[in-house]
Amino acid sequence: MSFEPISQAIQQEATAATTDQTRSVRVRRGVYSMRERPGFYMVRTRIPAGLISPEQLEAIAALAEEVNWPLGVHLTTRQGLELPGVPADKVVPILEKLQAAGITTFLTGGNSLRSPISCPYAGVTADEVFDVTPYALAVDHYFREVQTSYQVMPRKIKLAFEGCAHTDHVRTQVTDIGLRAVQREGQNGFQVLIAGGLGATPKLARELEAFIPVSELLLTIETILRVFNAHGNRENRSRARLKWLLEEKGLDWFRGEYDRERADLAKNPPALQLPTLTETAPALDGYPAVTEAELGEHYAVWKETNIHEQPQPGRVSVSIRVPNGDLLPQHLRQIAALTRRFAGNVRTSIEQNFLLRHVSAQALPALYLALKEAELDACCADELIDITRCAGSDVCLSALTNSRGAAFKISEAIRGDFSRHPDLRHLRIRVSGCPNSCSHHHTADIGLFGLSRQIHGKPVPHYAIELGGTASGTAVGSRVAEVPALRVGQAVKSTLIFYRDQHTAGEDFAAFVERVGPDAIKERLAPLANVPPPETAPTLYRDLGSDKDFRLTAKRGECAA
Ligand code: HEM
Ligand code: SF4
Repeated sequence: MSFEPISQAIQQEATAATTDQTRSVRVRRGVYSMRERPGFYMVRTRIPAGLISPEQLEAIAALAEEVNWPLGVHLTTRQGLELPGVPADKVVPILEKLQAAGITTFLTGGNSLRSPISCPYAGVTADEVFDVTPYALAVDHYFREVQTSYQVMPRKIKLAFEGCAHTDHVRTQVTDIGLRAVQREGQNGFQVLIAGGLGATPKLARELEAFIPVSELLLTIETILRVFNAHGNRENRSRARLKWLLEEKGLDWFRGEYDRERADLAKNPPALQLPTLTETAPALDGYPAVTEAELGEHYAVWKETNIHEQPQPGRVSVSIRVPNGDLLPQHLRQIAALTRRFAGNVRTSIEQNFLLRHVSAQALPALYLALKEAELDACCADELIDITRCAGSDVCLSALTNSRGAAFKISEAIRGDFSRHPDLRHLRIRVSGCPNSCSHHHTADIGLFGLSRQIHGKPVPHYAIELGGTASGTAVGSRVAEVPALRVGQAVKSTLIFYRDQHTAGEDFAAFVERVGPDAIKERLAPLANVPPPETAPTLYRDLGSDKDFRLTAKRGECAA
């Protein structure tokens, strides 16, 4: 694919100005402007189903070293890796090097079918109906390379594949098109959910099909895209996602259009071509012996929280927790090396972590020591302390607040034994820098998003707190309170203590919130919401991580350019 158009767009932006046309060319190639850094870009890679090879990790590490952005690369909530801080003259060389490593950035922005996400446990869990990975990859390839009619739709479409029967690790319920593996009379197929979505107005998906055989996967998806492409709102960007089409016209109407288009497309249906995936696995034994003294106390905690049994005898999967989703180049190199040495392969997860798969259970002590040396031994993956955050104001044009600073503040407040309390540790926290919800904050027990409030004549960075969403996206949280950014750690901790101390036996967090009611929680947090004048409390008027007074600098995002 030619890099000439993007090369021209970048040159034009350097010498003249950003126009709708340059922005559109750029964003379709996954190249986004960076906030308050003219001449610098963020490059978003497409990692379908979270599959990434050690060589690709090393290629990205080399580029991150070249770019030298202080935070390294960012692992996203859609299994992708983002490379911020790329100067204009390096954009095209970086895209070329990514391409040479077999990584595209094509259609990671714009109104296209984005990279499908897929359950990272596919192929390594006993809960699985069947391995959905080849289907996710086939769909990615088909709509990127073969059927190119859906690359400029009314708005983006996101797809999620889940193969597990009981746990939804990709939140199909809050995705435009969610596909869940099911079996009927011994035949593999998918339940098809549509029109879920997050953003400022979250919607849970509706069931379009209870079962389609796997052979009809492309036919089904293409039909949905046809209807969306023909009827989605092209006038008003904020009402353009599939969820709004369903909201406005209803499921029955959609089904009518879908049935008609499907019958038409079925006359010449798209052919599904599945890639062949070979799962390799390293030796089961022969790993160096490690003494308990070498392992230390933390090993037991790590082993309890980061290891997942596999159905394959003697094999386990290992989560590498990536605090804040931020990875330095050396971390990427280490993950590549550890994958080669200890695992069959590695995948990214939407929880902003990596999963080493097909590790020998006998290798765990040696692997742990290697992870520790690489500073990748954080325990408690997918637990309370494993806070998800969006790109936020370090990078993102739309950001109102610094979600990274807030995630850090919260982890400081709850770290240690507190976050490992048996009643709390399974809860999840997610932080977004604006209502767009890129961290999926609606699907957290405690979700937060940034906003600004004018107090004593000045803007004060705040977070809205939503409670009671679920990690699997089956319920979204309800907004209960707002606190200044500086107090976000105290507010989260206070809410957690409230639950820890006052929940009834067996009462989960969402049920607790419902029982005590939002007003009780709001009242509890009320002292934290009080903002004195700037003369007496100047730090409340600054965002976390900033020593300057807060000001609103958000611009129109480039998410749909
Ligand atoms: C007005 C513009 C934007 C809107 C409305 C928007 C909306 C969203 C929403 C709703 C999600 C999460 C839910 C989902 O998966 O569907 C999401 C994901 C995400 N957004 Fe945005 N976003 C915008 C701009 C941006 C920008 C400018 C950036 C960064 C430069 C960004 C970074 C991300 C990331 C990293 C994710 C998760 C990963 C992914 O989708 O690949 N977003 N966006
Ligand atoms: S949630 Fe808002 S601030 Fe965070 S990445 Fe998305 S658009 Fe940007």
